[in-house]
Amino acid sequence: MNTISDTLQDTADEWRGLTQTGVDASLTLPQAAVTALGHRVWEIISGHLGAGRHGLPVATPGFAAEADRLRSESLPDVPADDPLTLVDEVGRLLREGNAHPDHPDFLAFVPAPGTVTGVLGSALAAGFAVPTGWRFTGSVSSAIESATIRWLAELLGLAPGTSGLFVSGGSTANLTALTAARDALVGTEACGATAYFSDQTHFSVPRALHVLGIAEARVRVLPGDANRRIPLPDLARRVAEDRCDGLRPFLVVANAGTTATGDVDPLAELASFCRDEGLWLHVDGAFGAPAALTGRGRGLLAGLDAADSVSVDPHKWLFQPAGTGCVLLRDPARLTRAFGVGLPGYLDAGATGHAEDEVDYLQWGVEQTREFRALRLWLSLKVFGADAFRAAVDRGLSIADEIAAYIESRPGLEVVTGPSLTVVTFRGLPPATTPLPSAEDTDRMVDEVCRDLRSQGRAMVVGATVGGRRVFRLCVINPRAECDGLRAVVDRIAELWSARAGSPQRPGAAL
Ligand SMILES: Cc1ncc(COP(=O)(O)O)c(C=O)c1O
Repeated sequence: MNTISDTLQDTADEWRGLTQTGVDASLTLPQAAVTALGHRVWEIISGHLGAGRHGLPVATPGFAAEADRLRSESLPDVPADDPLTLVDEVGRLLREGNAHPDHPDFLAFVPAPGTVTGVLGSALAAGFAVPTGWRFTGSVSSAIESATIRWLAELLGLAPGTSGLFVSGGSTANLTALTAARDALVGTEACGATAYFSDQTHFSVPRALHVLGIAEARVRVLPGDANRRIPLPDLARRVAEDRCDGLRPFLVVANAGTTATGDVDPLAELASFCRDEGLWLHVDGAFGAPAALTGRGRGLLAGLDAADSVSVDPHKWLFQPAGTGCVLLRDPARLTRAFGVGLPGYLDAGATGHAEDEVDYLQWGVEQTREFRALRLWLSLKVFGADAFRAAVDRGLSIADEIAAYIESRPGLEVVTGPSLTVVTFRGLPPATTPLPSAEDTDRMVDEVCRDLRSQGRAMVVGATVGGRRVFRLCVINPRAECDGLRAVVDRIAELWSARAGSPQRPGAAL
């Protein structure tokens, strides 16, 4: 019986024969080559995913020269000598040249701890070149997307009838929702339209408003309160003032998990305010909305179900590959109003046999040809079951609690914010020596410690700014993270901090 390595060897020989005969204009490979290459690609992927990655570097520093080489490579006019070697080389580059957001010690930004089923869903969708913009050619994919969206709305506790679509990520989800809000309330000219959100809001929100033609002078960025939440009295005052000035307030964007600190705006109060004022409430839950899968998270996000629209990124805390975002609307017909088009004759294939309430997704967003993103989450939910997802999200919340308690218990460290939706920020106490380092020096040391940690490939931690000061920040959504591993990262940060700041620390004298 032929082993895989025999097949690989045969394929390499066959390939050498093929490349000598010149160009293959059909862009196909012999079936044996397809199988062998496929095996090799899957070996590389499953080796990466299966390793659990404990003990492996989060990132390998010093790849700049290799990156420069890749950037300047010339166009390959002729076939590769050996595609197996080529695929191996790609595997090496991806393994060594990129950081790994799926690594349990990748604690920066919002990590992306994917599931193998998400990867398989991507491969299946790509393998069938599945069109999802249009039911005529994508009847099954449209049906799967519609079911997955319904499941997601149910998982988040949103109202029956809520619907939406998969998009590339939180930025696109926010843009899609804000377009629907603008068109519903102030029209495309948006004369005098004003929008409100806190200074903790992700930059994709002001950028979306810019794209939508809402003048910067009409965008009200309200300083957060002591808990970094949008202050309702200030919001109410600004809205009233703007109305007095003849402007047209139309939108409030609330956070269900800010990126920096995981904070949640007062969603229920905002929903009630927006209802009374006739404003659209969009909740950016790109990172934090999945907390609503759990009992305690549902409490923290009370009011989420009253939003007009919600962004949620399955490629963050629902463990799907990058490029899996989602936008959900209480009244999805608003999407048709914003994005619907009359189909040109060449698309009028007279789609029949579909229920009236089915949707052509090209009518709900900016993309016509779309990736079949839904299949990743659909397959993952089918394989693992929704309860596994609830447990994985709950585990993130528990680990964040444990790590925050550990930080508090360590002399020399102090929690600054959280844990809130798995984000905890903390700082090192200053040394017992005088004079105390300046605020600028302390800020600089935080970034230096994070850089030292990264350069050792040990953990990926990036600082954040809270109350104008640099702090250490951990985001622990990875369901494969272990408390022991995370405690070791905290210990290492403490050591690096002491080495820079001096020790012992002055108890309770944080800067
Ligand atoms: C709260 C929030 N909104 C929006 C985004 C943008 O999401 P994406 O990077 O998927 O476009 C992020 C990304 O981290 C985020 O944390």
